[in-house]
Amino acid sequence: MSPKISTVRRNFAALQTPLICPLCRAALNLQDNSFRCSGGHCYDLSTKNYLNLAPQQKQLAIYDADFFSTRRRIFQAGFYAPLTQQIADICHDLQQQLGRPISVLDAGCGEGFFAMELLQNLGEDKAEIIALDLARDGVIMAAKACPGLKCVVGDLSALPIGEDGADVILNILSPANYQEFARVLRPHGLLLKVIPGADYLRQVRQAYNLSPGQDSDAEKLLAAAVAGYNTTRLTYTLPVTAAQAADLLKMSPLAHHHTATAADFNEITIDLQLLSARF
Ligand SMILES: C[S@@+](CC[C@H](N)C(=O)[O-])C[C@H]1O[C@@H](n2cnc3c(N)ncnc32)[C@H](O)[C@@H]1O
Ligand SMILES: [Zn+2]
Repeated sequence: MSPKISTVRRNFAALQTPLICPLCRAALNLQDNSFRCSGGHCYDLSTKNYLNLAPQQKQLAIYDADFFSTRRRIFQAGFYAPLTQQIADICHDLQQQLGRPISVLDAGCGEGFFAMELLQNLGEDKAEIIALDLARDGVIMAAKACPGLKCVVGDLSALPIGEDGADVILNILSPANYQEFARVLRPHGLLLKVIPGADYLRQVRQAYNLSPGQDSDAEKLLAAAVAGYNTTRLTYTLPVTAAQAADLLKMSPLAHHHTATAADFNEITIDLQLLSARF
């Protein structure tokens, strides 16, 4: 059952991070159950506990409810626990240094697992987290699973967030826009970007008959855009059940472009790079 609109309003009325209109870039203010700008544009809160700040944008067919449900099952099984712990540790340290609640933007949050874990780990009194994605199905799942998140349908290449709005930007296995990230991050702010290493989901790539994959351009693009960064590599192999092997094949965007052989593997290699950058 959807929450009452008054509950949704209360969630968004508490928002400290400044929102801006995706059409005219003027500040957005909450009036009744809608965010409005001085240019006359209006965005209604959804009873599903999210705000759509990209109503004009076409949805990408690949990122549907089925895709996000599969990812959610794999995340909940704990395969990415070392990554969630690293992110929580870094954010916890920053929060302690600043001595106030931190403002986090998950840019490309998908179904919201990493945002949700971070909010639960830090606590709502220590962090405000905006979970933003262009895919409405993902944002709806995030809003349902974690009512304390501020869930927004939005485009990360034209962020509906004001300048100096965030202390941390998470950007996990998603496209980046460094101009926008630099605009939105505060001067001390951190970008935590996660990219696949060469061995990431090796068994899945083999099932799709693909060579080892590394998005080598992703690190180069980040290096060219930021003042400096640290890298943490998280590499490990875990056993999987037959049902998880089938989910692992489906959870990758590869599934959209390639046909897999049977999911006949019984372990999976996770190989991720966590890049922690400052502008
Ligand atoms: C592989 S998924 C990763 C999602 C999530 N971080 C995770 O790890 O499950 C990539 C995500 O990027 C989102 N995305 C792609 N282009 C985007 C854009 N311009 N603005 C916002 N989100 C975008 C997609 O909708 C999708 O949810
Ligand atoms: Zn406007």
